[in-house]
Amino acid sequence: MGISTARIYDRSEALCSLSAIDPEYPAPRVSSLLSDERNDELLGYLQAEAFTHVFTGDVESGPQQFFHDLDRELREAPSFHLWVDIPLCRYRCHFCQFPTLVTSSRAETADATARRWVDANIEEAKAWVAAVPALRTTPVGEFCLFGGTPSVLPAGEIERLVHFYRETFAFDEQTSMRAEGSPDSLTQEILSTLRGSGFTALSYGIQSLDNRLLAVANRRHTGEQALEVRAAAGRSGFTRVDGDLVWGLPGQTVAGFLDDIDRLIEARFSTIVAIKLHLRSFHDVESAIGHVSPAPWEDPRVREQLALRGFRWPSLGQQMQMREGAVDRLAAAGYYEHPTTYFPRRDVGPELWRSLNLDQDQQVPQVGIGLGAYSWCGDAEANAVAAPAEYLARVEKGEIPLENVTTVSADHREVRAVEMALSTCQPLLEEVHRSRFPHSSLLSGRWGAKFGSLADRGLMRIDRRAGSVTLTEAGATLVEAIMNTQLGR
Ligand SMILES: C[S@@+](CC[C@H](N)C(=O)[O-])C[C@H]1O[C@@H](n2cnc3c(N)ncnc32)[C@H](O)[C@@H]1O
Ligand code: SF4
Repeated sequence: MGISTARIYDRSEALCSLSAIDPEYPAPRVSSLLSDERNDELLGYLQAEAFTHVFTGDVESGPQQFFHDLDRELREAPSFHLWVDIPLCRYRCHFCQFPTLVTSSRAETADATARRWVDANIEEAKAWVAAVPALRTTPVGEFCLFGGTPSVLPAGEIERLVHFYRETFAFDEQTSMRAEGSPDSLTQEILSTLRGSGFTALSYGIQSLDNRLLAVANRRHTGEQALEVRAAAGRSGFTRVDGDLVWGLPGQTVAGFLDDIDRLIEARFSTIVAIKLHLRSFHDVESAIGHVSPAPWEDPRVREQLALRGFRWPSLGQQMQMREGAVDRLAAAGYYEHPTTYFPRRDVGPELWRSLNLDQDQQVPQVGIGLGAYSWCGDAEANAVAAPAEYLARVEKGEIPLENVTTVSADHREVRAVEMALSTCQPLLEEVHRSRFPHSSLLSGRWGAKFGSLADRGLMRIDRRAGSVTLTEAGATLVEAIMNTQLGR
């Protein structure tokens, strides 16, 4: 299991929280399933608030092995996902568990910091192409400029960084370019710079449209500003604009969250990302994301204080009402879940990087460059260090600052492939599975037994004639818990 839920799980407390619902909305459909003792592990996982979108290897290894495996797989891959991480923000949100540094409010100091981190990123990238030559020739499927908040970089630094990547890696006419930002930093100048550098897809954090909730989370923008960016990005020529909302925030109500969903639908976001707030410390869980210092809201005393100030933490029952209410509204408006937590409009389709990494018939390598970035291929995975001083020192020495490198045993490779495919919330096809793992079947043997048990509990549907297994609606709601507790890691 990815997290020791036993230490923190109190069944009666969890059931009590599950039964505390908003009487104005239907009771959660997953309630009866979660109250079934056979699903105890799922309830425990849900209550633990773990953040574990991660597909770790199972054998400790070293960087040279990782570079070797990655190079070999890249040579066979049609494309890969190139993730460039700029860990700078103008402020630190109280919920955020990503490794970020807050830049100075003095323009000159902030510009110097930006230059330093762009320089470091370019140095690290040079070390990658030296260690893994296939990175120069394998087509880049999606280039993602993520963070942090890369939109806080000065326009000239964005141009310099992107120019380097275009010159060094195999961008072609199929390459999609996606940038991330925050509503307060996606100014018209930055939107134009991003478009001018070739970006057509935009992701940004909205979190909530309720200004009271934004302020208490230390966000420096309003809900109105967040919606204005959507319109401005459309006018600037972005062909897809994707926005993040979070459910489970202190002070959030079911009505408030569902109203946010309606307003994002009305604003025609291409993907509405509806993320459960996760606050379990990264020390307790396996995670793809490193950390600098804990998010303030990880501290139980801070959480208590917030509740005393009137920002009540939604119960499990209310959280499930938020998720299910959102799924219903999104489905009625033509959105579907692919992968878990991402709801693209059907006519637009899933975000490319998510499909490249997770879809059962893709699962191509990902290379992450930057503080705390995460890289993986079928046979191995690795994290860059998340401590800024160590990161900069190692990059300056010409190193790729990896830590926690693992390889994946033959058996675990298959488990990982199934987990990734399951996390897409799309049907898993026997034919595709057998083409990758000829001696295995999704419908018999160990998968047959696991999926049969999930089907008995209302979490999966098995269609033998079509040769497919699919999560039910409840299964999709609980997919993270299923992956982390039911698939026999
Ligand atoms: C790395 S942030 C980048 C977005 C951008 N910096 C911004 O805040 O607008 C990506 C997303 O992660 C989500 N996130 C951050 N901390 C989280 C947490 N503790 N639980 C759930 N989602 C979280 C937020 O929704 C955020 O928009
Ligand atoms: S949520 Fe975004 S802006 Fe806030 S600290 Fe995290 S990365 Fe920075």
